[in-house]
Amino acid sequence: MEERVLTPNEFQSEAEVQKNLRPKKMEDYIGQESLKIKMGIYIEAAKKRGSSIDHILLYGPPGLGKTTLAGVIATEMGSNLKITSGPIIDKAGDLAAILTSLEENDVLFIDEIHRLNTSVEEILYPAMEDGELDIIIGKGPSARSIRIELPNFTLIGATTKAGLLSAPLRDRFGVTHKMNYYTDEEIIKIILRGANILGSKINIESAEKIALRSRGTPRIANRILKRVRDYCDVKGNGDINIFLVEEALEILGIDSSGLDELDREIITAIIENYGGGPVGIETLSLVLGEDKRTIEEVYEPYLVKIGYIKRTNRGRIITEKAREYFSQNLDKN
Ligand code: ADE
Repeated sequence: MEERVLTPNEFQSEAEVQKNLRPKKMEDYIGQESLKIKMGIYIEAAKKRGSSIDHILLYGPPGLGKTTLAGVIATEMGSNLKITSGPIIDKAGDLAAILTSLEENDVLFIDEIHRLNTSVEEILYPAMEDGELDIIIGKGPSARSIRIELPNFTLIGATTKAGLLSAPLRDRFGVTHKMNYYTDEEIIKIILRGANILGSKINIESAEKIALRSRGTPRIANRILKRVRDYCDVKGNGDINIFLVEEALEILGIDSSGLDELDREIITAIIENYGGGPVGIETLSLVLGEDKRTIEEVYEPYLVKIGYIKRTNRGRIITEKAREYFSQNLDKN
């Protein structure tokens, strides 16, 4: 499948580069100010007590730096970070293996935690609450349960869908925090920092231009930055300037609202086929030939955020703001 520049989901191919751009220390983490203040206090308190911090649930759209934050917390605690995800942990035994491999005060990050299956979740409850692992060995009448003491650890769960988390799991987190989209100023800082790490000269004007296309999402900002840098390496002397940024964005098909071709297709499909809506997500998915979940989780959140689409219980509606933008940009699009 073609990799879409504006998706907040992480491409497999970019995980390595992303790692280099990720801040390791709290002082380098830009934005999410209220979260940083809270975490700073929890980390200091835990270090003073010589124990781990409470379990943390982070929720919000993808690409906002949940994994990055888990890494920062682990670094600040001087602990190891183990990363896994809900759909990867298939069986209770898989989770038991992960938990028993933890060392004192380690951070365990479970992405997409809402996708853990029930049998795995049940192992997690006593582990989170009492630091104990209850496992059953054998089958039938000879089966017996054994209890293993686990080291202190901090579970950081991440989800884009907090509503899908079971109540018993949600209740076992001491801290729950919603990650917010970043402001343009914060994204500009992230781009300047990224360019510096990549060794590319960039001016503020160019950083601003990229920021306005980044949907308030660091992962997208860093991705556009890398594509723009490639373009400037090929077409110029490697310095990132506003003319080359504009050309690169044009080639990437990203318009001044930060929309790409598929976003525009969604909007025009609703306007042209359904008079602006309401239209149900199933119908929309059929018309566009795009997976329903992808539309809901990847494309729509940003269109809703910028006020182009409204979700109602009768379906999706295009707003006046979107109509205006589209009538003004008809020639370009
Ligand atoms: N890269 C990704 N997220 C970041 C953040 N919040 N601060 C700095 N760089 C980042």
